[in-house]
Amino acid sequence: MIWIVHNSIHGNGIRVAELLAECFPGFDVQITHHRDTPPELIADNPVELLIFGTAVRKFVVSWESQRWLRKVNKYLVKNNITIPYIAGFVTHMRDPHKLSGKFHQVQKLMIDARAFENIYPQVLTCQVEEIEGPLKPGVEQTVISTGKKIRQWMYEYDLLLESLI
Ligand SMILES: Cc1cc2nc3c(=O)[nH]c(=O)nc-3n(C[C@H](O)[C@H](O)[C@H](O)COP(=O)(O)O)c2cc1C
Repeated sequence: MIWIVHNSIHGNGIRVAELLAECFPGFDVQITHHRDTPPELIADNPVELLIFGTAVRKFVVSWESQRWLRKVNKYLVKNNITIPYIAGFVTHMRDPHKLSGKFHQVQKLMIDARAFENIYPQVLTCQVEEIEGPLKPGVEQTVISTGKKIRQWMYEYDLLLESLI
């Protein structure tokens, strides 16, 4: 099962989540806002991949989403639950070159969340034209190609693990 969490206000994060979901045909995919996603919900489901979606607002990566991931991690660790894979995406309006520090911050947040065993190495960055959107031209294609790469990454890692057993 794949769980995609977002913190969308204007729907762009939801659009990214929906496009990513399409990259996992045959999987049970849930898309929820983090406010509707208590840690117990993640813990009580057989989640194989968590896709953590957040947004840059007021010059920072949403504090709310950061807190949410830390809380989920704490709950999972406390209950001895691990999730094999995590990947992240960020929606933002500013030029991505000016936000590389923020994207690293999201990556570090996921690395620090010890309940997740493997971290997809690149944060998917999704620029919007205005605060309300839409996504900039070309972003949807990037989301789809990244979704497929994430699927391939999981698949190859699973094969590697099987070969080691
Ligand atoms: C109050 C507010 C502050 C924002 N500040 C920033 C900012 O500092 N840098 C930036 O790149 N985007 C900023 N944005 C744009 C958001 O990143 C953009 O609205 C969001 O990613 C779109 O996703 P959503 O439709 O899922 O909410 C801001 C948006 C809002 C509403």
